[in-house]
Amino acid sequence: MNNHLNEATTYIQSKLSMTPEIGLILGSGLGVLGDAIESPTFIDYKDIPHFPESTVEGHKGRLVIGHLEGKPVIAMQGRFHYYEGYSMQDVTFPVHVMKQLGVASLIVTNAAGGVNTAFKPGDLMIITDHINNMGDNPLIGPNDDQLGVRFPDMSQVYDRTYIDHATTCANELNIPIQKGVYVGNTGPVYETPAEIKMLRLLGGDAVGMSTVPEVITAGHAGMRVLGISCISNMAAGILDQPLTHDEVIETTEYVKDHFIKLVKQIIHTLPQ
Ligand code: HPA
Repeated sequence: MNNHLNEATTYIQSKLSMTPEIGLILGSGLGVLGDAIESPTFIDYKDIPHFPESTVEGHKGRLVIGHLEGKPVIAMQGRFHYYEGYSMQDVTFPVHVMKQLGVASLIVTNAAGGVNTAFKPGDLMIITDHINNMGDNPLIGPNDDQLGVRFPDMSQVYDRTYIDHATTCANELNIPIQKGVYVGNTGPVYETPAEIKMLRLLGGDAVGMSTVPEVITAGHAGMRVLGISCISNMAAGILDQPLTHDEVIETTEYVKDHFIKLVKQIIHTLPQ
């Protein structure tokens, strides 16, 4: 793993003349933010040693490295999902690479189904906490003590200062914002109505098929994390209509202006 990590990091560094400080993981339909990065260097995942390849429609499968609001950033346009058949180690490999490149702050984004009935499609939700409902964990196996402790605390894995900062930015921009708990399921199926009822009883506000592994890995490695969900649809059983990936992509398309504005503002004044 460490050799693979070093080779991937060295390859990426060989293409760069700067050190990225902020990492961005862009979820389904949210990759457009990567197009706002100035003087970009693009690196396709397939060219990076030991990087897995993304297979989902709406995901580009490349790193975009450059400046956003004057800050050096590295963005993943497309992420790796557990449901694609990747191991938890594959899914979180890019987070390890970012850490090794010098990234201290990670902004993780996703499209998610609204579990909280007060939400509506198109809402943006700042993630205050998560429930790992994947039945797996990226930290299972030998612990890298250089990176973090064996039993990492997850009680503040979503940085409180960042939550407050993101809230302030949304308010300044007059962008309506929700806050809540993200439930990570494996997918690839959308949930049943009964499962959504259960997740609501358990305290979930939104549900998706990503984010949790990356956040656990980043938290373990001491990165500061901010999570933002785009509520792309109401979760199963809330509205009397079937869920489709097309709806997810359509909603993210419609909310992308707000999303880009908000993340730019967050980065512009991100507390160190
Ligand atoms: N469930 C799970 N994952 C999702 C959903 C959903 O309703 N919408 C977008 N990703």
